[in-house]
Amino acid sequence: MNKKLESIKEKALQEINSSKDENSLNENYRKNFKELSSVFSQMGDLSSEEKKAIGVKANEIKQLVTRAFEEKKETFVKEKKDNSSFFDITIPGKKTKIGHLHPITQAINEAENIFRGMGFSLVEGPELEDEWHNFDALNFPADHPAREMQDTFFVKSKNKKLLMRTHTSPVQIRYMKTHKPPYRIIVPGRVFRNEATDASHEVNFYQIEGLMIDKEISVANFKAVIEEFCRAFFGQDVKIRLRPSFFPFTEPSFEVDMSCSECKGKGCSLCSQTGWLEILGAGMVHPNVLENSGVDSKKWQGFAFGFGWDRWIMLKYKINDVRLFYNGDLRFLNQF
Ligand code: DAH
Repeated sequence: MNKKLESIKEKALQEINSSKDENSLNENYRKNFKELSSVFSQMGDLSSEEKKAIGVKANEIKQLVTRAFEEKKETFVKEKKDNSSFFDITIPGKKTKIGHLHPITQAINEAENIFRGMGFSLVEGPELEDEWHNFDALNFPADHPAREMQDTFFVKSKNKKLLMRTHTSPVQIRYMKTHKPPYRIIVPGRVFRNEATDASHEVNFYQIEGLMIDKEISVANFKAVIEEFCRAFFGQDVKIRLRPSFFPFTEPSFEVDMSCSECKGKGCSLCSQTGWLEILGAGMVHPNVLENSGVDSKKWQGFAFGFGWDRWIMLKYKINDVRLFYNGDLRFLNQF
């Protein structure tokens, strides 16, 4: 029996120590432990003296084998840990999600590039404006209905009447008052009106204002600049036409149409079958506006224009609801 115990011990230790992985280790331990336990059930015929000696030996072997099993198991655990801290520098990195500029800003940057090519520089002005710059200096008489068309949000203040600007035109005044002519500027910015929102109206939207003043600037110059801009922005040959209109700060004033970018002037649903898309308001700067800004209207003259920027981008990308620009829905924004 002693011999048998010895051979079980040898075999158990050998098998446990040579196990290749955790599964075979468990299996080897279980098998040998069972064999060892079976020795106890075979001890019936032994004298009590022998039983005691064999029992002690068998228990010693059990402990030995169990320790060998635990030690071996420990090496597998450690191996696993070492493997998991291995840093594979060839694994491609995780992509960090970064945002991008809003489509309105992207389009402003695009416009800025085109206008820069024609010698214009970009200027900005305050969104909270005073009544004088927003209306009076731009030749809106105090009780003129055009003020009502640009109904906006007035802000309580002690001295001057403050309001959220209704258009970017007041920046013309601010710029002319602080710079000497000639001028070639564009003014992108956010404007505010008291509107009931729907697919084509928002309480805030963007405009790009333009101003070009020099000694001999005419409507022909205006037409050339705008035609060039539209061609560059839409990447195709387009035609421009002017229709008479009214703005207090220009004389003469006109609405500008561009031949439909979709049907090339043939007539389609985008242009309501007319072949033309209304794109901006413009005109020759009114002498009163120049004088209000400290510019001699006998020496200097030129044109101004104002794009409804949201609508312009809606045309280019065929977007059917202006509110999409402002509700922060990533399903929309990520398309740009
Ligand atoms: N400020 C005008 C508006 O918001 C747009 C505009 C029209 C701007 C004619 C101009 C201009 O500079 O000459 O409706």
